[in-house]
Amino acid sequence: MDVRLGVLASGRGSNFVSLVEACRSGQVDAEPVILISDNADAQALRKAEQRGVPSHFVPYDEFDRSHFEDHAASLLKEYGCDLVALAGFMRVLTADFLEDFPERVLNIHPSLLPAFRGLNAQAQALEYGVKVTGCTVHVVTEEVDAGPIVDQIAVRVHEDDTEKTLSKRILEQEHRLYPRALQHYIETRLPDLTSVQAP
Ligand code: GRF
Repeated sequence: MDVRLGVLASGRGSNFVSLVEACRSGQVDAEPVILISDNADAQALRKAEQRGVPSHFVPYDEFDRSHFEDHAASLLKEYGCDLVALAGFMRVLTADFLEDFPERVLNIHPSLLPAFRGLNAQAQALEYGVKVTGCTVHVVTEEVDAGPIVDQIAVRVHEDDTEKTLSKRILEQEHRLYPRALQHYIETRLPDLTSVQAP
């Protein structure tokens, strides 16, 4: 039976779309069952609607993170999610949320971790002057951009790259990497994990 996939996204949603397409083409043995966004204006919400994936806006309160996390966790459980993919989700998830989905939350980051964690990873890479950067899919832990690495793709930095041109080339590779890493994780790690507790 296909894995039930929940996706959290805050913005454009291009990685969400690449995951939906990969699941629907059979590249990934998963079914995207819900998209949750903390941003009411996120393009990801519209892209989910257009593709027939149930979508929910859940407001995020900086001063009460548990409000978003409890609501999102309830929805993910209600939809029977086995795995959660963060796809441009711009919030940090706390241990309370992660405990509900142990080793079941993945993230994609636009650098070769552990280099250039946090925001604006592509600009950080240019600023440092590296000649190779890329993208990483990793398991989400409490520490930001630091969990076990599932897979990576390297991208060469060109002499004339700007943040925009480099980000574009990395994003193209993100769209290849996330489906591939997800399928690998489903085949190799998911069978050994304890099940998600019922709502
Ligand atoms: C991607 O670069 C991803 O690596 C980062 O945020 C961006 C999201 O892009 N975490 P999109 O919303 O998937 O188009």
